[in-house]
Amino acid sequence: MYEDFSYIYDKLSFDIDYQGYAENILNLVDKYNINRKNMLELAAGSGMLTKYFFDEFENIDALDISPDMLNVFANKYDIDNVNLIYYDMVEFENPNNYDLIVILLDSINYVTDPKELEKLFENCYKNLKDGGLLVFDINSEYKMKEVFGSNCYVYEYEDIFYTWDNFYKDDLIDMHLNFFVEKENGSYERIYEYQQERAYSIDDVTKIVKQTGFRDIKTYDEDDFGDLKADTLRVLFSAVKGR
Ligand SMILES: C[S@@+](CC[C@H](N)C(=O)[O-])C[C@H]1O[C@@H](n2cnc3c(N)ncnc32)[C@H](O)[C@@H]1O
Repeated sequence: MYEDFSYIYDKLSFDIDYQGYAENILNLVDKYNINRKNMLELAAGSGMLTKYFFDEFENIDALDISPDMLNVFANKYDIDNVNLIYYDMVEFENPNNYDLIVILLDSINYVTDPKELEKLFENCYKNLKDGGLLVFDINSEYKMKEVFGSNCYVYEYEDIFYTWDNFYKDDLIDMHLNFFVEKENGSYERIYEYQQERAYSIDDVTKIVKQTGFRDIKTYDEDDFGDLKADTLRVLFSAVKGR
């Protein structure tokens, strides 16, 4: 997962409003009077979201399990206050260090074992300072079941033609992606990517986050920062540690 695909990820993210998502998070940072000192972004990928925080926080740790995504990040940005970390976010421990932890763009859905999800939130709790803020999103159940489902999609964007074949069973989606990238001589390079995501209900996630000890757990429609709707695609959560 996220090997050769990493090098075309940025291009295929053309329709994602990273700037708007960052503004939502910064609104929450202000709402909860969070100190803009230490930020941790888990599953930061190629830094598409992180870049909107470069001037907002004193120190940023950006972590990912894919060396290729981190390589893309490192080749794009050379920022003094950003530290790239190659690690599994479920296992990462740096206690009482962060004012803000962010996990965005379906990254939670890649944690397919619910026990691992509990561990991830426990470590987030441990790693936040008292009063620190956790912000993350999940794909809604509507998106996982109705939009992804067992559907097959075919797209063409600039020099990339791709197919996306999904198989949904027991809350797990197996996704088979085939990208055909046009080269200068007109031939096509094929990149195959397999991914698996788990559908989590808002109630189940809220329960785990609450059990971990977080308070002030709030949910939003990530695309308009408003109330959740029946067809909300991405659910944004915020939760505060202690105090
Ligand atoms: C859809 S991308 C999102 C990247 C980035 N957050 C963004 O907004 O563009 C999902 C990312 O999650 C990372 N990821 C998946 N499981 C992970 C884990 N256990 N620990 C750290 N990163 C993980 C992948 O390598 C990938 O970079």
